[in-house]
Amino acid sequence: MRRVAVGAAAVVVAALAPVAYDVGPPRQAPRASAGAVVNATIVIEEGGARKGYATPRVTVSGGVVTVVNLDSMDHTVTSVAKGADGLPVFDVRVRAGTTATVPGVETLAAGDWAFYCKFHPSMRGVLTVEGGGGGVEPERPTFEQPLVVPPTRRGAQVRLVMRRALVRTMPHGPRTAMWTYDGTYPGPTIRRRGGRGTQVTIVNRLPRGAGSMSTHLHGDHHASADDGQPTTQLIRRGDSRTYDYPLTVDGRAEPGSFFWYHDHRMDRTARNNWRGLQGMFVVTDPPTPGLRLPSGARDVPLMISERSFRADNQLADPFADGPRMVGHHGQMAWVGPQSPPDDATVGDTVLVNGRAAPYLTVSATRYRLRLLNSSPFSSYNLTLSDGRPLLQIGTGSGLLPKAVVRTSVLLGPAQRADVLVDFSGASGRRLVLESVPAAPGGTGADARETAVMEFRVGDPARDSSRLPTGLPAPTLVSPVPRRVAKTWTFGLGEDHSGGHHASFWSINGKAFDPARVDHRVTLGTVERWRFRNTSDVTHYVHIHAEQWRTLLRDGHAPPPWELGLEDTWRLEPGEEVEVAARFTDYTGPFMIHCHMLDHEDHGMMARFDVVP
Ligand code: C2O
Ligand code: CU
Repeated sequence: MRRVAVGAAAVVVAALAPVAYDVGPPRQAPRASAGAVVNATIVIEEGGARKGYATPRVTVSGGVVTVVNLDSMDHTVTSVAKGADGLPVFDVRVRAGTTATVPGVETLAAGDWAFYCKFHPSMRGVLTVEGGGGGVEPERPTFEQPLVVPPTRRGAQVRLVMRRALVRTMPHGPRTAMWTYDGTYPGPTIRRRGGRGTQVTIVNRLPRGAGSMSTHLHGDHHASADDGQPTTQLIRRGDSRTYDYPLTVDGRAEPGSFFWYHDHRMDRTARNNWRGLQGMFVVTDPPTPGLRLPSGARDVPLMISERSFRADNQLADPFADGPRMVGHHGQMAWVGPQSPPDDATVGDTVLVNGRAAPYLTVSATRYRLRLLNSSPFSSYNLTLSDGRPLLQIGTGSGLLPKAVVRTSVLLGPAQRADVLVDFSGASGRRLVLESVPAAPGGTGADARETAVMEFRVGDPARDSSRLPTGLPAPTLVSPVPRRVAKTWTFGLGEDHSGGHHASFWSINGKAFDPARVDHRVTLGTVERWRFRNTSDVTHYVHIHAEQWRTLLRDGHAPPPWELGLEDTWRLEPGEEVEVAARFTDYTGPFMIHCHMLDHEDHGMMARFDVVP
């Protein structure tokens, strides 16, 4: 299988062998002017999500480009290049078992146009436009608006009103109506020292029809009733609920962490997060002698997310014609368009702290960037355009035992990384934070290819920070049991009975049922759990209630950036990961689920109960 590697923001690729796939003789017709019309066909065969396009390299000259999807999943043919409006120059969704035409090909300038599948970005190809072509050329990304850091709340009592508000997302034109925590997107960043109890009161004043909500503080350790349960302890419209976060674990202060809060309502999590119900929560460490990390304005939380917008800057509604739920042997399944595995909510526009393509003016000093991917579905493999390394000092759940020098950091939905960047030597330059897919087959080959934001580097300035030699990382549970107490298998369930094709995302073969307890753990014990992925796509496994130690990834020691505490793991097709944690303080129901929000909403969640 040939695949095409495409460099960041470049549409030129190395010469490849001509495509051998036989799609029949091209229709050729004489043209009034010189030259023959050549049509092109892009073929996707069964298993395309894993194998890539069957025709990764095609040429068109004055003709049409047809996509034939012989797979049982939907795919897209989307240009990497963006136009003046910031949107892909061409973009077509091709439903399973159908054919579509790539729109706008006649307007493209001659040259090579890299394309990919938005739902499975490791599918990559190049369309060569020959002959005169049109005048449309790819636009370089522009960064027109300053980055905004959400307001910070530091008190022991925080009150956030969920309400519809107009927020600035795009650099030009009207503001965007979103569902917000307290009027901003992202909501206010809560910053609290570990060990200092915090009560967050959430008031629901969302529009009629939004329904009841539930707010989950992702990564934190707190009581089951304060967990933002999907079907209980809901906040009805007009009501409020106070969540109690002691920020302690087993009587000790929680380690410094980068958590985030977001809606967790059953079946509606993807929609509610898309509409804007997301915010950041930083648990700060007590000062550690000798540790001088960048702080203040040089400690920047960056929530990276993506949305699609209509021409009037309002959010597109990818859920409007979503799948229909049906009863299925006593459990739920989904039928119709965008039912699993075609339920990928991707956005065309990347937002950082709510703004499209922002820039941040920095001094030529060290910065601490707290990176969070709050996208519903997509992954980003983040890198700086001049190859400057990112020094990863933590996960979202505490510091790593040792800083790790990385040229790129892959973040799937809900994953976070705490990194240091040294901008010294870059005065007067503009560096782009971008997502670049890894080489085919490499980890992160399914990350998006896109610019994210720009750093405008100014003069050097006084900098009392130091790159850390050692890090006061939280201690990991030890010893760990050898026996795996529970295996969670992430897969796709299908049902062809009842005259329709119903499908659902599953854990251990079942779709989520809030009334079913899938596992019981005794409070005070240490358990070893295993995840397996039997489906064709990557999942991101998240566990509530505790922070975990990663023991094994595919039978080997995890990579150095997975040696800290963790709550969300990448799980590629065929992969196996083993983790361990001690269950302390709280009994009751908690969730384990895929953090690709459509997968979560469409069954890929299970309940475990901690029992006395
Ligand atoms: Cu970030 Cu169960 O969620
Ligand atoms: Cu998933």
